[in-house]
Amino acid sequence: MTVRIVAIINQKGGVGKTTTTANLCHAIAESGSKVTAIDLDPQGHLAVSLGITAQGLGGIDEAMLKNKKVQQQLISVRDNLQLIVPGSRLKEIEHLADNNTPRGVLLKNALQGSLDDQDFVFIDCPPSSGLLVANALIVADEILIPMASDFLALQGLSHLMGTIKRFEKALQRKYKTLLVMSRYSPNRRISHQVLNVLLTHFPEQILATVIRETALLAECPSFGKTILEYSPKSRSARDFRSLAHDFLEDKVMYGSK
Ligand SMILES: Nc1ncnc2c1ncn2[C@@H]1O[C@H](COP(=O)(O)OP(=O)(O)O)[C@@H](O)[C@H]1O
Ligand SMILES: [Mg+2]
Repeated sequence: MTVRIVAIINQKGGVGKTTTTANLCHAIAESGSKVTAIDLDPQGHLAVSLGITAQGLGGIDEAMLKNKKVQQQLISVRDNLQLIVPGSRLKEIEHLADNNTPRGVLLKNALQGSLDDQDFVFIDCPPSSGLLVANALIVADEILIPMASDFLALQGLSHLMGTIKRFEKALQRKYKTLLVMSRYSPNRRISHQVLNVLLTHFPEQILATVIRETALLAECPSFGKTILEYSPKSRSARDFRSLAHDFLEDKVMYGSK
């Protein structure tokens, strides 16, 4: 088995990238796979969500700048789950000048051969389409796009798909690209409308389970807990266990909902 590297991207903020990364990684790790989560957002919200206050800690920044090996930056956060924090210099990398080394391959070079004992590496990306996201796209095999269920989310998505196509062309390979409805409100008409539009454009690319909008999911980061710990029997914990199952089994939505 080779490691599958998955970039969690969406240039819009607040759509559920970090929430999806933290909870999906934990659910997949709980089911027995070995998972490494990389917090590639200088804000460090993934680290906080997993209970790590990363103040002063070096992380993926030092690995990308070649000061440390990736293996030195791993923090074991749960059974089968390890985390790499962003580190305080990650935001510098976004503005790095282009000298001799191409700036887009820093993460790829850092990860090269380093996490081969893992089943999955998930990269939680910042809400931008800058250099950090480019680094994630260059190293990733797969892309997971969390989608909020509002009208403007659809507009952002065509831009994002354009970016992905450009990378595919430049790198001469295709990603496996999946979407997840990460903030779904079953009682709102707009949620159904957005999902229907997505289904017509991306049939068989939307993971079968929708993550519902709940108060519990918004609460758990402040305790440094995932939903599986904060409220293991809640419907949100069920949503994420079910999403992990979909992800592992390639279970997607068909037809109209
Ligand atoms: N399904 C959900 N239900 C309730 N709150 C959510 C849900 N998904 C995300 N949130 C909340 O919305 C905010 C933004 O989510 P986050 O995962 O940080 O987005 P991103 O990483 O895309 O910026 C956070 O406060 C988070 O707790
Ligand atoms: Mg985030």
